[in-house]
Amino acid sequence: MKIVVLSRNPNLYSTQSIVIAGRRRGHFMKVVDHASCDIILGGQTRIFYLGEVLKNIDAIIPRIGASATHSGASIIRHFELNQVFTCLKSEALLLSRDKLTCLQILSAHGIPIPRSAICRNIASLDPILKWIGEYPVILKMLNSTHGLGVLQAFNKNQANAMFESYTKLRQKMMIQEFISEADGADIRVFVVDGKVVASMKRQAAQGEFRSNLHRGASSTTEQLSNEEIRIALESARILKLGVAGVDILRSKHGPLILEVNPSPGLEGIEGTTQIDIASRIIQYVERNARK
Ligand SMILES: Nc1ncnc2c1ncn2[C@@H]1O[C@H](COP(=O)(O)OP(=O)(O)OP(=O)(O)O)[C@@H](O)[C@H]1O
Ligand SMILES: [Mg+2]
Repeated sequence: MKIVVLSRNPNLYSTQSIVIAGRRRGHFMKVVDHASCDIILGGQTRIFYLGEVLKNIDAIIPRIGASATHSGASIIRHFELNQVFTCLKSEALLLSRDKLTCLQILSAHGIPIPRSAICRNIASLDPILKWIGEYPVILKMLNSTHGLGVLQAFNKNQANAMFESYTKLRQKMMIQEFISEADGADIRVFVVDGKVVASMKRQAAQGEFRSNLHRGASSTTEQLSNEEIRIALESARILKLGVAGVDILRSKHGPLILEVNPSPGLEGIEGTTQIDIASRIIQYVERNARK
């Protein structure tokens, strides 16, 4: 098969890993930077990559970073409209990439999430803080990545000051209950085609509550409870994601979904679990793409 990996950088671990796995299974693999694609609409739609028409593609594997969500989605949509199988649908990318939309949809489907609120008016801040109940609370930029823009407020004055700073900087943000019993750890569940293929626990560095590997966290393979498996698979299904990195916090009331990543990185989880996830993604393509 001719498989395109949509990725800004062919040298990224995840991109490399998928390309190698695809070639090992006998496929023609091409890395295409979605930022360098142009589309002709009307009549017979066409897509150009650096001036060359892309054709006879059997499937795409999109790896879309947070900074290119909308432009990436429009390129994925082109392939969808031309009946090319994609591991990540444009709609699914748009639903899951925005932390608020993602949690809104999951909670509407009864998936447990931390108490979360969107606050745009300072007048609502006090009642929201009272509803959340305890300090610290989390104030999180909606477009945060790698834990940057995820802060703790230990009292009402700090929450007020952070709210005002985010508002001044025109940053959309979410206020969230702090799950202290997670003890600086979260669980990454890697889902491919409705199955859990790997899972790991990330433990924050000493004195840090954010368990991002970019913030110095360490990771180990982790066994999941049945409930964790259930909510991870349900979340991926609800968000229509064939490939998903589902992050879970273990609370005293059971597991809570923190976020769902539509282009989860492979380096941390393959390195930690020694599971060849890239091959699982290629096998998912093989089961679904036109021959
Ligand atoms: N409500 C919370 N309670 C306890 N810990 C939290 C909470 N929210 C976030 N954290 C910790 O902070 C880390 C970073 O938060 P989050 O995953 O929401 O944003 P991000 O990592 O910046 O986004 P992305 O994963 O998309 O890069 C989490 O992995 C978790 O360890
Ligand atoms: Mg995160």
